Amino acid sequence: MNFHIMTLFPEMVEQGLKTSITGRAEEKGLISFNAVNIRDYSNDNKHHKVDDYTYGGGAGMLMQAQPIYDCFLAIRDSVKGLSKDKKLRVVYVTPQGSVFDQKMAADLAKEEELVFLCGHYEGVDERVLEEIVTDYVSIGDYVLTGGELPAMVMIDAISRLVPGVLNNDESAMTESFAGGLLEYPQYSRPEEWMGKKVPAILLSGDHKKVDEWRLEQSILRTRERRPDLYEKWVLENPPKEEKKKRRKRRSNQEEDNQ
Ligand code: ADE
Repeated sequence: MNFHIMTLFPEMVEQGLKTSITGRAEEKGLISFNAVNIRDYSNDNKHHKVDDYTYGGGAGMLMQAQPIYDCFLAIRDSVKGLSKDKKLRVVYVTPQGSVFDQKMAADLAKEEELVFLCGHYEGVDERVLEEIVTDYVSIGDYVLTGGELPAMVMIDAISRLVPGVLNNDESAMTESFAGGLLEYPQYSRPEEWMGKKVPAILLSGDHKKVDEWRLEQSILRTRERRPDLYEKWVLENPPKEEKKKRRKRRSNQEEDNQ
């Protein structure tokens, strides 16, 4: 999977992504990072200006359409084997977007090429957004100074879903959110630390019981810490008796309809 990042600060993006797990994945050829400096596409040969005042007045400067568009065209031309009618997925990171979550990460992870546009100043000329952007995505209801950190957050979350990026494929499956629940508490050596003992069931060797305990802990933790996620999970995973009742109601309804 290839990430292309349109930015005014390519070194910031590269430093962040070319280290640790994402850096190792790039070295292995599983993913690649192509941070492209929008300033290189400025028509202003002297100062490489990429921003200007907003029409209608108001504080701050706006990123202009032309350098971003030309930067995008250069990225599109660099993608090998891209058919003419294929539209590249372009994510504009903005607090005005839909809030990023695990489901969105999984959806974006299906792409072979993914382009990110990082804004700065007071925003970006609307016309270039209309022309190239396919997804408007925020990382939360707060405002950062630029789009680089949000893009890096998203790229990290997407990368770890690419097969082979994590050493242990299982950890992408069982962790928080994978089944709509937060992850259960975990313990390592020693068995006792500061007077706190590891729950005895984890030392029992009974895998079935351990799995049951972990699920129970996940449910409890989600209910306590993220009641919003818990409500959703309960709707999608009704208790066994409720499932039976629903099935019966459905079959009665079907009989009535006949
Ligand atoms: N740019 C500035 N703040 C942002 C946010 N919260 N999410 C995405 N992009 C942003």
